[in-house]
Amino acid sequence: MNAGLARSQPRIRIPARIAGSGAAIPARVVTNAELSRTVDTSDAWIVQRTGIRQRYIIGEGQSLLSLSVEAGRQALQSAQLAPGDLGMAIVATMSPQMLTPSTAARLVDQLGATPAGAVDIGAACSGFVYALNMAAGLIATGAMNNILVVGAEVLSQTVDWSDRRTCVLFGDGAAAVVLSADSSPNQGCIHQSMYSNGAGWRDLYCPRTNQDIPENDAIFSGKLNTLQMNGREIYRFAVSTLEQTILDAVEAAGVELDQLKAILVHQSNARIIEGAARRLGLTDDRIYVNIDRFGNTAAASVPLCFHELRCAGRLVEGDLVLFVALGGGLTWATSLWRL
Ligand code: ACO
Repeated sequence: MNAGLARSQPRIRIPARIAGSGAAIPARVVTNAELSRTVDTSDAWIVQRTGIRQRYIIGEGQSLLSLSVEAGRQALQSAQLAPGDLGMAIVATMSPQMLTPSTAARLVDQLGATPAGAVDIGAACSGFVYALNMAAGLIATGAMNNILVVGAEVLSQTVDWSDRRTCVLFGDGAAAVVLSADSSPNQGCIHQSMYSNGAGWRDLYCPRTNQDIPENDAIFSGKLNTLQMNGREIYRFAVSTLEQTILDAVEAAGVELDQLKAILVHQSNARIIEGAARRLGLTDDRIYVNIDRFGNTAAASVPLCFHELRCAGRLVEGDLVLFVALGGGLTWATSLWRL
């Protein structure tokens, strides 16, 4: 077991139930074939290396905020709650609408949930799982009864569209869940973990000024305010961390891998996910993959997986579900729930 696990074990008092979910997907589909007309790439390369076939990109009149509002509204509706029931909204994103105010503050306003608390958090692709854990912790203390947790990204505004190493990977989208305090002791978050290793920050960063570019950096594409990524290093980090993080979570929670109904993994690369599934001996479809349709939507990817499975009727009350994400920072996190 990882030495840090004991520290991260929450003493949960009031259980939180995942009461509803929602999603907002931009209408515009960008296929690999379309991308290959603007950068030197091909459908075959992208599919073989990543599993991505298309991604969604925002169009006229859409934004991180509008996607968050749509996903949030749906989640509230499916939880059968009114906006005024919300104690707080947390938006996990690495592509916020603005640096300030938070996207969450404007989301709360547009939902009609004022004066609910509002905060954005940034943990790159791990952001939603971090936010889910933090929201479950807040409910556990009794401070709030209902919290909206959104994972949203508009990465199309953050990638360098002339850099084929990154622009083929990412997509836009948002998904949300509502957590509600619940009296059933059998439901809720039964284990959570959150980790970081900032020494690896150079492997995925978005420089605002020239000062932010590491010395002797070989990956900088030349454009400030765009995502820079050392794909090989991130790949190595993901492959070496994903499987162990899943095993640590089930061990710490005292459950067996076989008992999990679904493992909702951040969709960074189908090869990374399928490799981990193979090594864990998971030959069925319990590790869900939808990167072929959405690309890597960073903080939105894990809640998008959850919402799709929930809408498909593949997740029901009583199921054990593990949320897992890894990303820039470097960061990684898990959240194990009994639905
Ligand atoms: N089309 C065609 N060729 C390309 C493309 C492209 N889109 N991108 C890179 N190449 C070329 C490279 O230039 C290189 O050419 P060279 O050999 O002539 O130099 C060749 O393909 C191989 O490049 P690699 O980088 O070694 O390719 P690799 O097999 O590692 O795949 C990839 C690259 C897909 C990016 C992989 O490294 C990966 O998935 N890494 C993890 C990425 C990831 O998960 N990022 C998200 C992190 S999570 C978050 O927090 C956002």
